Amino acid sequence: MKTNNLLITGGAGFIGSHVVRFFVNKYREYQIFNLDELTYAGNLENLKDVEDSPNYTFIKGNINNEDFIDQLFIKYRFDGVIHLAAESHVDRSIKDPLAFVRTNVIGTINLLNAFKACWQDNFEGKRFYHISTDEVYGTLGETGLFTERTAYDPNSPYSASKASSDHFVRAYGETYGLPYVISNCSNNYGPNQFPEKLIPLFINNILNNKPLPVYGDGNYTRDWLYVIDHALAIDLVFHKGKNKETYNLGGFNEWKNIDLVTLLCKQMDDKLGKPIGTSEKLITYVKDRPGHDLRYAIDATKINKELGWGPSVTFEEGLSKTIDWYLSNEEWLNHVTSGDYQKYYLKQYS
Ligand code: NAD
Ligand code: TYD
Repeated sequence: MKTNNLLITGGAGFIGSHVVRFFVNKYREYQIFNLDELTYAGNLENLKDVEDSPNYTFIKGNINNEDFIDQLFIKYRFDGVIHLAAESHVDRSIKDPLAFVRTNVIGTINLLNAFKACWQDNFEGKRFYHISTDEVYGTLGETGLFTERTAYDPNSPYSASKASSDHFVRAYGETYGLPYVISNCSNNYGPNQFPEKLIPLFINNILNNKPLPVYGDGNYTRDWLYVIDHALAIDLVFHKGKNKETYNLGGFNEWKNIDLVTLLCKQMDDKLGKPIGTSEKLITYVKDRPGHDLRYAIDATKINKELGWGPSVTFEEGLSKTIDWYLSNEEWLNHVTSGDYQKYYLKQYS
């Protein structure tokens, strides 16, 4: 699989920015277009180091705007799409489910329609890659793993919207022959993550001596994957994954929230030169998230066997690198928490 004009949606976000950087640096012969609406989660400061690359173009725009998306495909004839743009935070989806339907479901269908209109005479060599989440599978009990054959059973408006978009991608494959791949990944962590998600939120709160709000009893379990390992997997699936297949991606790395937070507190104390136990005192148990999934755990055997992919760092190493990044990128964090990062687009692109 090779591509000429590659569209990456949501490239200013957390995972998307790592994917854009990786592809821009590795595939000099591709023209890479990053389409992003720059919602609160989009931050072009994530991509300062590649913004002047000759094979990179940023386009500000909304995937919910059908006409705009159609015109964009007519203009650039993207032969590859890696679709990451989404509303991605479960807690926000509980407050405003419709925003998730608009972007995650309708936005995805707009992209599918434009891609189909462009290539339906000959889909040969084209590829639509939809990035999804393990949350579509719902929740596990104490044992078991999600495989590619696990039935969808989403519990939050976020996971329901992602499940819906996965189904549409698959349906376009069956109905119109649209060539696609999907991957469903576990929780990502690493540099550039917006501090509303567990790990960056808690790093920021420790730095500001604020409480660490652990939902419920803290005994919820997630599988964690370092974001750069996700970008490596996306490269492999995009180029070598089989048409119409799904790949589960995970770190073989399950942590109960409270154990993860305790490890994070220890590493933070160590790096900040504080007595061990200082940050743990900030842990505060708060009201649980409604519909909170007990446990996610991924069986990533398929991609491991077929494409030779596996996580490259242990969680302790990845977490340590992540904390180091936040500690040495205080300006990024300050801009994000103050809202100043949203001025960067005007400064850079007006
Ligand atoms: P993010 O919230 O950090 O970034 C999303 C990006 O999409 C932002 O740059 C935002 O501006 C952009 N965007 C949002 N709505 C848009 C719209 N209507 N039009 C154009 N752009 C829009 O998200 P993330 O954590 O980087 O996740 C990226 C993708 O990976 C999502 O599809 C998510 O479901 C999936 N995913 C995330 C995780 C995780 O742990 N973060 C795990 C598995 C899968
Ligand atoms: P999060 O980072 O929001 O990812 P997801 O909901 O997609 O798994 O949350 C990870 C886990 O941490 C999840 O079980 C909810 C929990 N959590 C807290 O306990 N407190 C918090 O402030 C946040 C944001 C999450």
